[in-house]
Amino acid sequence: MSADTVRVVEVGPRDGLQNEPSQVPARTKIALIERLADCGLAVVEATSFVSPKWVPQMADAEEVMRGLRRRPGHRYPVLVPNTAGYARARAAGATEIAVFAAASEAFSRRNINAGIDESLERFRPVLERARADGVEVRGYVSTVLGCPYQGEVPLADVVRVARSLHAMGCSEISLGDTIGVGTPRQARAMVEAVASEVPLAALAVHFHDTRGQALANVWACIEAGVRAVDASVAGLGGCPYAPGASGNVATEDLVYLLHGCGFATGIDLPALIETARWISAELGREPASRLARAGLPRAHG
Ligand code: HMG
Ligand code: MG
Repeated sequence: MSADTVRVVEVGPRDGLQNEPSQVPARTKIALIERLADCGLAVVEATSFVSPKWVPQMADAEEVMRGLRRRPGHRYPVLVPNTAGYARARAAGATEIAVFAAASEAFSRRNINAGIDESLERFRPVLERARADGVEVRGYVSTVLGCPYQGEVPLADVVRVARSLHAMGCSEISLGDTIGVGTPRQARAMVEAVASEVPLAALAVHFHDTRGQALANVWACIEAGVRAVDASVAGLGGCPYAPGASGNVATEDLVYLLHGCGFATGIDLPALIETARWISAELGREPASRLARAGLPRAHG
């Protein structure tokens, strides 16, 4: 990938919708994923094969994966917490997965009912099966800039978990500010600390915008050399086990920033804005993004 290209990983259909209080129909989820791919998003995280008791909104993961018209050359990773989730995901046709750990012990217990070390042990057989099946695995590290339960999270813990996931075979590590507490210098310092142990090219960043810092944090990380950024169309989302967390940085706001600063993304911004407005209308609310509200200035793409 050339230095002036940023890979945007769309997480709206998963991170964006997992916290919706009323059940979103599978056909709406499928239409959202297909529209996002049509906008040029090459990676769309589609759903989660987690326990339906823990996240009822994702109980239709099989229906979503099986109903999807997959575009050639596009990737549709899914979240998997354990070997049971892996088996479900593979049976439904997933060819790429993501496992998710946390840098905070307290958050790990709340989110996946296991401490950090136990969770890494739980992922080991998942990664072994994935390697045997030729399935690529992304590893998330949550609470990299703060935890809703324990407060501060030592940088050394973030580095340790990121290094472990990478060493276990995760090809990309996504560093998540789950509750949107960080600010740009902190974000940059965190990325630089992780990059001392995991190659920068294998890092992605994942900022929730709870306190309005997400875009500034992304930019600080781009300046530090990161070239993969997670985002959620219309700024949808939150984590069911991170009270008060709002959605990720909105994909259309991110793309406007990137194109304006000379980076290529391969994304059709007007089509993406339309998609943000469409899903917001489907969910009966205003889009959280600035771009979907204000629109593009004249003569802009
Ligand atoms: P547990 O209760 O400890 O699991 O939950 P268990 O192994 O004891 O099993 C309990 C029951 O769940 C059993 O069913 C299992 O069969 C079933 P029962 O016998 O009671 O009928 N079960 C499953 N069913 C379907 N699919 C599965 C599965 N596994 C067990 N995969 C578990 C442990 C990990 C399963 C649970 O805690 C869980 O599903 N947690 C997921 C929480 C979640 O999805 N959080 C949001 C995603 S993470 C996130 O948003 C952060 C991120 O965006 C980055 C950031 O922002 O920082 C990625
Ligand atoms: Mg998230």
